Amino acid sequence: MNDISKGDGAPPLRRSIHPGSGRRRAAPFPRGRVLRQEEVAAVKALLGDLPRERALLIEYLHLIQDREGCLPEGHLHALSEELRIPMAEVYEVATFYAHFDVVGSQEEPPPKVTVRICDSLSCALAGAEGLVRSLQDQHLPGVRVVRAPCMGACHRAPAAEVGHRPVDHANAAKIRDLALRGEVHPEIPTYEGFDSYVKAGGYSVLRACLAGARQVKDVVAALSDGGLRGLGGAGFPTGRKWELVRAEKAPRLMAVNGDEGEPGTFKDRVYLEREPHKFLEGMAIAAWAVEADAVFLYMRDEYPAVLRILKAELPRLEAAGLLAHTKVHVRRGAGAYICGEESAMIESIEGKRGYPRHRPPYVAQVGLFGRPTLVNNVETLYWVPSILEKGAAWFAGQGKNGAKGLRSYSVSGRVKQPGMVLTAAGSTCRDLIDLCGGMADGHHFKAYLPGGASGGILPAYMADIPLDFGRLEKHGCFVGSHAVVILSHKDDMKAVALNLMRFFEDESCGQCTPCRNGTEKAVALMGAERWNAELLADVSQVMADASICGLGQAAPNPVKCVFKYFPEDLR
Ligand SMILES: Cc1cc2nc3c(=O)[nH]c(=O)nc-3n(C[C@H](O)[C@H](O)[C@H](O)COP(=O)(O)O)c2cc1C
Ligand code: SF4
Ligand code: FES
Repeated sequence: MNDISKGDGAPPLRRSIHPGSGRRRAAPFPRGRVLRQEEVAAVKALLGDLPRERALLIEYLHLIQDREGCLPEGHLHALSEELRIPMAEVYEVATFYAHFDVVGSQEEPPPKVTVRICDSLSCALAGAEGLVRSLQDQHLPGVRVVRAPCMGACHRAPAAEVGHRPVDHANAAKIRDLALRGEVHPEIPTYEGFDSYVKAGGYSVLRACLAGARQVKDVVAALSDGGLRGLGGAGFPTGRKWELVRAEKAPRLMAVNGDEGEPGTFKDRVYLEREPHKFLEGMAIAAWAVEADAVFLYMRDEYPAVLRILKAELPRLEAAGLLAHTKVHVRRGAGAYICGEESAMIESIEGKRGYPRHRPPYVAQVGLFGRPTLVNNVETLYWVPSILEKGAAWFAGQGKNGAKGLRSYSVSGRVKQPGMVLTAAGSTCRDLIDLCGGMADGHHFKAYLPGGASGGILPAYMADIPLDFGRLEKHGCFVGSHAVVILSHKDDMKAVALNLMRFFEDESCGQCTPCRNGTEKAVALMGAERWNAELLADVSQVMADASICGLGQAAPNPVKCVFKYFPEDLR
């Protein structure tokens, strides 16, 4: 049953640095080892005719990990020789990402099948902790069971992955079955393919742009008038961003953010698995508008079905002449939440660790490979063709409570029918609970997360605030990627905040001290029966004020909200 609720008798969640995250591990092998010819030959064969480019390092690490089930030290050494870069560089990248398993020559390789069980909030509410324990206790042969952060299936909690096979509403029997049968590949959902999209009028807006029947200034004006804002979480006006990038000197690039790692968020996945072409049309229009000669589409490794869909569909666009103005490169993430932060994503696309950059300069000025770069979220681009086709007034008119447009809220937690709710921007939490069929049986509404793990926690009596950009800040919260997690009287807010802080501790990239040490200290303080208000306030302040990026700056939000809104849970 529920592990983070009061009174269910379950022991508290254990500390959970995700195995394989490796960000704090020591090198498993000594320096100066001898290069073996069979390892060189194996790596050469894997890379085949691919260009030996430093920026493709993560793609090559994936090739080795997929083939070998891990990254053997000898292969890494051979890869460093092949790319003519220092071994230390290969090693620091390989150990940064949770989905890579570096194995020293004296170490045992990991078991053949890895089962990942999501232990982020919505899955913890649905019993993830018990599932981890039950599977670990079974000691399945050739199977290891590890914890993992949000997999974008929070509405089907608890979520798990057997190899690359996502498992919704996971239970021990389902997972054991798949793992022992070696069913580790994703099932491809039914989605709208190229032909049916075109038949329904798809790609007509892009064709009009490419043919000169639409002007960039009109396209930008429509997005601005429609009120389209960045749906990756920051809410920056999209038309304005396109203008800013266009104003920079060519050559320019574009990067699509498909990392969707904010716990509670799954809207991008829903669109990509349902209507990939609407997003792809928006992406191609954006590349045309900013004259980006290449687009780097960064897709999280947790969405293997989406990666396959893109691999199948992109060549069809190319064959139809719809990508003549740009070249699309798909880049696969490797399990690091921080790579959703745009500058960290850019570092990752360049084949490096996902360390956020200091700003200024902004990525619109100096982004990928030093070039001005347009970065947009998947859903932001998804709305572009509809706005251009149906008009700015149509989109703007969909909002309520002073907000403009439609919004895709990812709703999970204690509601009857969790799922993605497409409704008016500016909807309230109370609206969303109604649209999800009300509270789950036996649960009374107590609180909610308005914006995923980072956006804070609000009490039920504040459920009538419009969930839109800029409306929650005065309450110490923000709406971010519109991931709303509903909590009930059975949920202990201290345990909820601790789950969120553990997530930030695990996912901190480690670059700056306030976040690296602050999240660790906060987790230790929050594990105590009585929270030390003074120390937690101090740590929170330092993290918020001095962290380099949004992860460390927002990490204290849930703690601050517990002090502010849930004093009864602190007694
Ligand atoms: C810690 C952190 C994580 C983020 N994760 C994501 C993400 O997973 N997906 C995303 O699109 N944006 C994410 N963002 C926001 C991006 O930095 C950026 O604002 C966005 O991709 C820009 O696209 P948009 O204007 O279309 O929203 C994150 C930001 C921070 C600070
Ligand atoms: S705030 Fe955290 S995630 Fe961001 S750069 Fe610093 S250590 Fe890395
Ligand atoms: S899939 Fe578990 S919280 Fe999102």
